[in-house]
This record gives sequence, C-alpha cells and structure tokens, in this order.
Amino acid sequence: AEALFGPQPLLGRQVVITAGPTREPLDPVRYLSNHSSGKMGFALAEAAKALGAEVTLVSGPVSLATPAGVSRLDVESALQMRDAALGAAAGCDIFIGCAAVADYRPASSQPQKIKKSQDKLTVEMVKNPDIISEVAALAARPRLVVGFAAETQDVEHYARDKLQRKGLDLIAANAVGDGLAFGQDDNQLTLITPDRQLPLPRASKRDLARQLMAELATLLSEKA
Ligand code: CTP
Ligand code: CA
Repeated sequence: AEALFGPQPLLGRQVVITAGPTREPLDPVRYLSNHSSGKMGFALAEAAKALGAEVTLVSGPVSLATPAGVSRLDVESALQMRDAALGAAAGCDIFIGCAAVADYRPASSQPQKIKKSQDKLTVEMVKNPDIISEVAALAARPRLVVGFAAETQDVEHYARDKLQRKGLDLIAANAVGDGLAFGQDDNQLTLITPDRQLPLPRASKRDLARQLMAELATLLSEKA
C-alpha cells in the first residue's frame, strides 16, 4: 500500500471515532456504565493520525492520554455522545463507532440522591438511540461508516446482521467475555464487509488499529 499511496494515504481526510463507555445517570451521584477502557478507539485515533488524517475522537470517560495532534470531545452519556458524534461526523470521510454505548438509560435521572429507604429498588430503563445507525442515515453520510461488534457467541452471524441492519460499510467483529478484549491490550478481530471476510491474527490493539486503518484507507481509495 505504501508504494501506491505513499506513507500518508489519509492525508487531508477527516476521521471521526467514538471511544470508551458511556455513563447513564441515575441520580446526581450515581450512574450505570460498562467496562470499556477506550484503548481500541484511542489506538485507532493514533493510527489514523499517523496515516495523515485529521482526527476527532468523541470519548466517554476513560483514563487515557489523547494521542498527539488528535482533537478530543469529552462526553458522558449516550445522548451527549450522539449529539457530539452527529455534529462531528456529518460530511467526514470515515466514521468509526468504537464506543461501548450503553444500550439503555434510566428513564429519568432523579434530581436528588436516591435514599435507601426501601428494601427493593426498581429502575425503569429506556433504550438509547443507536448512534452509528443515525450516522449512517445522515444526509451528509460519511463515505465509510465502520462499526464494531462485541459478541459472546455466534460472532460472525451477529456481526453480519449488524452490518446490514445499521447500514455499515465494514464491521470489526470480536469475541468478548472470559477475559477477552475488554480492558486487555490485545484483541482478535475479523473484518467483515458485505462481500468479504478478513480475519486478522491476534495482536495488540495498536497493531490491529494500524491494520484496520490501512484497510480503510484502501477501501476509501477504491470508492473514489
Ligand atoms: N452502537 C451505537 N449506538 C448504540 C449502540 C451501539 O453507535 N446505542 C454502535 C457501537 O459503537 C458499535 C456497534 O453499534 O459500533 C455495535 O454495537 P453492539 O453493542 O455490538 O450492538 P447493538 O446494536 O447495541 O446490539 P447488542 O448489544 O444487542 O448486541
Ligand atoms: Ca450494545
């Protein structure tokens, strides 16, 4: 690829990446969240920057340093991430949804701290908007919309279903659970497009991020 496009195949391209978990508020001092570390999304931002792209990282709460030269928008809840992501993604070249967006949020966040006055607490949850589906449906749709699918079973089957349902160009599928992926430094990804399937060997998130970004640079050049 380097011989064809030079070392910076994404020069002048705009890349927007969501990363990390979201926090869904229960009351002023509590939230529901998940174990996403943000490592994969931050590694993708670094890899895209290295290939010459202008990178915007829409990040949930993580304890990671922002890669040099990358613009970062910090958000907490899924609703905040949606606003920031839609704003940044419109008209960009590549959008990558790497965030572990909470699927549900408490139907209402209590204005005051919930007191433990009852023996049982029931919290009603409502579904969050699907951010990547909304990005893929934008009038100013990014030229490539790329998702991740973390699955505990039937990885390829569920990933392919998400690729189609969400209107994506590519989905990176990985198996989670049993100490796999979440918070780990390495990962195993299978890249799935409507007509191809490319398993990448188990590697560090940094290596996988570089391979995925190189693959996306090639896909983008094929689209032009
Ligand atoms: N995603 C998103 N907004 C959501 C939920 C997910 O943008 N509200 C994105 C993720 O960033 C990822 C892709 O959708 O790129 C797949 O996420 P995943 O959790 O695997 O899929 P879901 O559609 O939420 O389905 P489920 O959790 O039931 O498997
Ligand atoms: Ca989900």
